[in-house]
Amino acid sequence: MLGNFTYCNPTKLYFGDDVRKNLNDELTHYGPKVLLTYGGGSIKRNGIYEEVIASLREAGKEVVELSGVMPNPTTTKLVEGAKLASEHDVDLILAVGGGSTIDYAKAVSVAAWCGEDPWEKFYIRQEEPDPDQRIIPVGCVLTMVGTGSEMNGGSVITNHEAKLKIGKVFGERVMPRFSLLNPRYTFSVPRRQMVAGFFDIMSHILEQYFSGEDDNTSDYLAEGLMRSLIHSSRLAVVNPEDYEARSNIMWTATWALNTLIGMGKRQDWMVHMIGQAIGAYTDATHGMTPSGVSMAYYRHILPCGLKKFARFATAVWDIPAAGKTDEELANEGLEALLAWMKEIGVATEIRSLGVTEAMLEGIADATLLLDGGYKRMTRDEVLAILRESM
Ligand code: NZQ
Ligand code: ZN
Repeated sequence: MLGNFTYCNPTKLYFGDDVRKNLNDELTHYGPKVLLTYGGGSIKRNGIYEEVIASLREAGKEVVELSGVMPNPTTTKLVEGAKLASEHDVDLILAVGGGSTIDYAKAVSVAAWCGEDPWEKFYIRQEEPDPDQRIIPVGCVLTMVGTGSEMNGGSVITNHEAKLKIGKVFGERVMPRFSLLNPRYTFSVPRRQMVAGFFDIMSHILEQYFSGEDDNTSDYLAEGLMRSLIHSSRLAVVNPEDYEARSNIMWTATWALNTLIGMGKRQDWMVHMIGQAIGAYTDATHGMTPSGVSMAYYRHILPCGLKKFARFATAVWDIPAAGKTDEELANEGLEALLAWMKEIGVATEIRSLGVTEAMLEGIADATLLLDGGYKRMTRDEVLAILRESM
């Protein structure tokens, strides 16, 4: 490990199929008014809403409901939530849903009392809340696996007018105070969303893994998580109600992006930057955007990180190394990744996500260019990767 770092994760996790009683306990730590936020109604169809409402009633809470959080939540919705939270002076925001609802809850928690335009302050200027600013605590009931939002400070908001989708990684004060992870809650996730979440997990791991040349414990952890994900995803696509597989995937998703495996790493994140720009133009399902550009991106940077790509082939995919050059091994590793993507059924191109030729220049312009990977991209390289991904 060559990097210098501080590690702290304040989120308390409850995991398993009887976490409801933990919600009852957690609720006792907060004041009487709860903003219950959720998405487009899946929690009413699968019964999670009734369970959560029952806990809130048992705890004697006054509940303010904020529903309709859309996948890829918007600035307009953020303004609505911030107004509601401050008007009702809520003591806790309880987010019940996937990454969109949880990201949104974090954004509302800082926007409610910030006194200025939250999009400009937190997303454009990437500021933290002021030290004396009130932040409403967030608790989560996770219903869809992939983003890791349940145990991180990430919050991604889309501004359709500006054609920008921007993530802010908030500090410890904004991270969820507690999250309930019940694998059974994920059984009703539609197949397309389920597999998109699987690739999102893989992408989060890869984007931390493909950086740096030092011998780093984080890379060994990443390889273990990838092996578990590949194994369990294969079982889950055959039987989505395989509790063991879904619970392993749920736990892997959390560890893939709760900052642990990024410790001591420079980290790449360009696949997600391109994916977010695609999302700003198309509103595509989040996990399908990194899957759509990954092959073109990794083929592009492979020569600059050859040793790591060769290691990926052997350590993650068990490809025999004997008699092969690093380049041959590295390419076989990427082919194994592509075969797995096809097997689980995620997008391997971006046209099916709604991207048209006319959008490509704009998407390239909207892509943030980051340092940290094996190669610093130029805007024209991003454009070339987008063209190859069509
Ligand atoms: O809205 P409802 O009706 O609840 O339906 C949702 C939504 O349509 C549905 N769903 C969720 N749980 C379900 C379910 N349907 C049936 N049964 C259940 N148990 O699934 C759909 C997608 O949900 P969403 O929350 O949008 O998906 P996801 O978890 O992939 O979140 C995507 C958002 O997270 C951001 C993305 O950019 C995107 O905005 N990300 C957040 C990150 C973070 N916090 O660190 C990092 C990620 O890379 C990502 O960028
Ligand atoms: Zn993601």
